[in-house]
Amino acid sequence: AGLSQDQLKDAVAAAAIAEVRPQLHRDTVLGIGTGSTANLFIDRLAELRHDFAGAVASSEASAERLRGHGIEVFELNSVGTVPFYIDGADEVNAHLHMIKGGGAALTREKVVAACAETFICIADASKRVERLGAFPLPVEVIPMARSYVARELVKLGADPVYREGVVTDNGNQIIDCYDFMIDDPLAMEVRLNAIVGVVTNGLFAARGADVLLLGTAQGVERLTP
Ligand code: A5P
Repeated sequence: AGLSQDQLKDAVAAAAIAEVRPQLHRDTVLGIGTGSTANLFIDRLAELRHDFAGAVASSEASAERLRGHGIEVFELNSVGTVPFYIDGADEVNAHLHMIKGGGAALTREKVVAACAETFICIADASKRVERLGAFPLPVEVIPMARSYVARELVKLGADPVYREGVVTDNGNQIIDCYDFMIDDPLAMEVRLNAIVGVVTNGLFAARGADVLLLGTAQGVERLTP
């Protein structure tokens, strides 16, 4: 009891290390996510750097951090599939559907997750929700489509807010959807993808997590859909 949010994040990072460690081989390439929880996982991965080949990163920031620990970073196109993708979430429900993209890395996160055999979500208990949407849902758009997409999002019931000053690793912009409670994450993920000019949205339902390591005051819970 009395653990801080950072301690809970570090506990799930450690649990993820324990989960993947027995599966590592010298040719293993891991998929690595973005954010403060993923950073703690990257830092703990450093001591295992001689036990596996390297990583594919979902952001330039994570790639830099991996390289800083002497971990080789590969291009996804040269790797194909990865056995594990380890990443945080902004919200996660009982089906292990998630909202991600608070750090604006959603598109690359979704691509690496799509190439992963097992998606391990690492999150502190504050991320666990009954219904997705209290956290503003990020939508990545090509810049010239921004106001068109925002008008379409209003029609769907969202309150879209342009995330000013943010340019994604792909050169695009982010709209955050406020006041947008999501009853059917899979249907909404598909619906949002159908708006022209949308690159990706932060709903991870078509490809949710396979394992959730949830940091609680009572310890790390291991949940599956
Ligand atoms: C990055 O774009 C997000 O999807 C992160 O996974 C999410 O914001 C979780 O970040 P924290 O681990 O910092 O809470």
